[in-house]
Amino acid sequence: MAGKNKLVFSGVQPTGNLHLGNYLGAMKNFVSLQKKMECIYCVVDLHAITTHQDPKILKENIFETTAGFLASGLNPEKSIIFNQSSVSGHAELAWIMNCVARVGWLNRMTQFKDKAGADKEKASVGLYIYPNLMAADILLYKATHIPVGADQKQHLELCRDIAQKFNNDYKAENFFPIPEPLIQKKISKIMSLRDGTKKMSKSDESEYSRIDLKDSSEDITKKIKKAKTDSAPFPENEEELNKRPEALNLVNIYSEITNSSVEKVLNDFRGKDFSKLKKNLSDALVASICPLGKEIKKLMQDKGFLTSVLKKGKENANKKAEENLKKIREIVGLL
Ligand code: TRP
Repeated sequence: MAGKNKLVFSGVQPTGNLHLGNYLGAMKNFVSLQKKMECIYCVVDLHAITTHQDPKILKENIFETTAGFLASGLNPEKSIIFNQSSVSGHAELAWIMNCVARVGWLNRMTQFKDKAGADKEKASVGLYIYPNLMAADILLYKATHIPVGADQKQHLELCRDIAQKFNNDYKAENFFPIPEPLIQKKISKIMSLRDGTKKMSKSDESEYSRIDLKDSSEDITKKIKKAKTDSAPFPENEEELNKRPEALNLVNIYSEITNSSVEKVLNDFRGKDFSKLKKNLSDALVASICPLGKEIKKLMQDKGFLTSVLKKGKENANKKAEENLKKIREIVGLL
């Protein structure tokens, strides 16, 4: 049942092939939230262009992320599914939030430092103020619960500061609810299959570092077989597991994909060869990821359908956004 006044919002950037990290870290959780609360899920194309995107590929990726949402089990009859740029209120509120957020706050954002690299002067201004747009995404709908990976925690704290400052500066007490992060601690980090200390990422040059949702069963089996492990036997307990990043990653993935606790996985495989876990893991991945990949490929053949889903989502999102924006403009004193 939709909880009273509870509203979930989250966004996924359409910047490339969806992989296992996107599924386990975001979409699988989105689907379970959809059962409990009203949800808005956004393909954040305006965020994607903070670094240059080839226009043709961007368009494909917007469709593919939408297809990934649907294939994972998001239901457009239940949740609002749309792309960010189709609701202009995101950009409008982002401007207002640019005027609320402080330069000092943005200067503390560690993701900007990581993404901009050594030459910050050459980063786009958009990349710098990206967290303000993210705050606008959330506040535009007065969303209350935000499922994100641990890497977005700082951006969410900034959003909370922005909401608070807006409410204070404009003497609009409790106008914006202060959003709560929903961070799945255990699995907010699905790591590379080649290096258990690095996040699984579409930008990693080794394809063997990740499982793409469109991988064939042969690809999956090969990648898991080749996944890096250490030479020690299967860990005895969680304390030992936590000291071995590659082993931890495979156990975490297995526990997530089979919906069983880490403790149970340790009990089931204790004393066994690591290859046994790998075998079971690739079987479990083939069983759950291959149908998803097939569905994505099928949906990508029907752009008309995907367009109609996004259009319906846009209309519903826009209605909510305009209602809130009307009040926001009034509060700020814009005519
Ligand atoms: N910045 C998020 C990411 O890169 C995506 C995002 C944009 C988002 N707007 C959001 C997530 C609003 C949650 C809420 O993962």
